[in-house]
Amino acid sequence: MNIIDKFSTILSSPAGYRLFSRLVGGNVWQTHLADHVQPVAGEKILDIGCGPADVLNYLPACDYSGIDISPEYIASAQKRFAGRGRFHCQGIGLATMEQAPGSFDLALATGVLHHLDDKTADELFKLARLALRPGGRLITYDGCYVPNQSKIARWLLDHDRGKHVRTQAEYVRLASTRFHKVESHLRHDLLRVPYTHLIMRCG
Ligand SMILES: C[S@@+](CC[C@H](N)C(=O)[O-])C[C@H]1O[C@@H](n2cnc3c(N)ncnc32)[C@H](O)[C@@H]1O
Repeated sequence: MNIIDKFSTILSSPAGYRLFSRLVGGNVWQTHLADHVQPVAGEKILDIGCGPADVLNYLPACDYSGIDISPEYIASAQKRFAGRGRFHCQGIGLATMEQAPGSFDLALATGVLHHLDDKTADELFKLARLALRPGGRLITYDGCYVPNQSKIARWLLDHDRGKHVRTQAEYVRLASTRFHKVESHLRHDLLRVPYTHLIMRCG
């Protein structure tokens, strides 16, 4: 097993993932929520690819549902945030929304799109579109390739666990097939290491 594979194994455990996020992330959750998500107390939120649901440490009181394909992450979320939300172990698929379509104020996909091939990414946008009420918003957040990027940022993106890191134009093109309004913002300042994020607000 090479060093990248070993690192990937560490990140797949909820504790390893949280430790790494804290080390490189600093105040990233607070900044991302304040600048881009702007959650309002009481909102109904669908977190697609929620991981261990760490965002719950930073959200105001809300009606939260998280879905993730990893049984380990969902078990960790259920244990740590019992009573704070509903956590479902499932892949991205329309079955999730059968009971409450059009009822969510906010959908989150934080660090998820770059794990998904184009077909599954389209399913994510379709799911979010179906889940959101009219006027609701989807906020995505992913690593992004840009021209003249720092070599460190590019190396990190090239070696990410997610094998579908894209350019700004590629992310926006995918989102635009399901959402009329897509605003995208590049950020170079969210982590403690050189890195580029693309955040999209889709409505
Ligand atoms: C980088 S983690 C982000 C986790 C969380 N959103 C956060 O910000 O801490 C990406 C997550 O997407 C999940 N994921 C990847 N493919 C998925 C799929 N097809 N359906 C549901 N979740 C998926 C992974 O299990 C992982 O938890």
